[in-house]
Amino acid sequence: MGNTLNTSSSTGAQLSLKSITQKIKSCETKKIIIMSGAGISTSAGVPDFRSPNLGIYFKLQKYKLPYPEAIFESSYFNKNPEPFYALIRELYPKKLVPTTTHKFFKLLENKNLLTRIYTQNIDALEHLVHIDSQKIIEAHGTFQTNTCLKCGHTNNLKWFKEQLDKQTGAVKCLKDSCNGVIKPDLVLFGDSLPLRYFNNIKPDFKDCDLLIILGTSLTVQPFASLITEGPSKMDRLFINLTKPGKVGGLAGLFMGGDVTFNRENDCIEMDYCDKVVEKICLDLGWQEELKNIEFDVLGE
Ligand code: OAD
Repeated sequence: MGNTLNTSSSTGAQLSLKSITQKIKSCETKKIIIMSGAGISTSAGVPDFRSPNLGIYFKLQKYKLPYPEAIFESSYFNKNPEPFYALIRELYPKKLVPTTTHKFFKLLENKNLLTRIYTQNIDALEHLVHIDSQKIIEAHGTFQTNTCLKCGHTNNLKWFKEQLDKQTGAVKCLKDSCNGVIKPDLVLFGDSLPLRYFNNIKPDFKDCDLLIILGTSLTVQPFASLITEGPSKMDRLFINLTKPGKVGGLAGLFMGGDVTFNRENDCIEMDYCDKVVEKICLDLGWQEELKNIEFDVLGE
């Protein structure tokens, strides 16, 4: 995995990582928004979706689905939740530990620099570093909570993980022998994104100084088009192992087809997220604080 390209120069992006940290040091950058994807959690053992050989969509071949995305489609889940549960048992780590990147987000919150985290991730790792849940918008939902499709009873992630081990097949509701299918509170394809997502975009991005986009192929809408929000003077830092993907559909037309970072105030770091955030913290003299961020571990 990875890419030897690791500078902005070949793309037109002109800002250096050094200038970004300098602006944080001098307090010119005061408001930071995070946009994250599966790549921030691969170092915690959660696979991403699209990396060749390692990503979830590659591993789906054995489930004999009509097409790979079906496993994350609401209508398919309601008819047949078994492949979803087989996949979750295979891929969701037994022990959940947040990564250096998640700790970096908490550090930004501690420094009063974090406006919001917009994440596509459902793994709930942000919660293990105790980031205020109001600061997190889980655009595609979260494993943090789950709901019985029959009686509407809700449970937390700890309960869900225990039941994944105790039960076989789709996890079923244990309340009053209900036995309904439990669905983690995810936004599957066909579901609408949470209202909080749409309601916060304008106010959050209005005066954002720096947008940090990490570990995402930027191929799924409407999330990917968040990079076009915000004032033109807002700096953008894209940290990812590979180049951002093409945006399909109508949104692709409006965005010119490609997701590009070619503004003079864009910076691209094609490298591991944990490595780049460590570099940022080193430059800002935050290494000790980063190391000392407290976190919970879930499972064993
Ligand atoms: P993808 O798998 O599409 O993209 C993850 C990106 O992270 C890839 O470009 C990898 O190169 C990169 N990557 C992997 N490990 C990395 C690391 N340690 N450091 C830096 N980069 C790394 O995942 P997302 O963009 O999050 O939707 O996928 C978006 C949505 O597609 C998901 O939320 C999901 C899926 O269909 C739903 O389930 C609704």
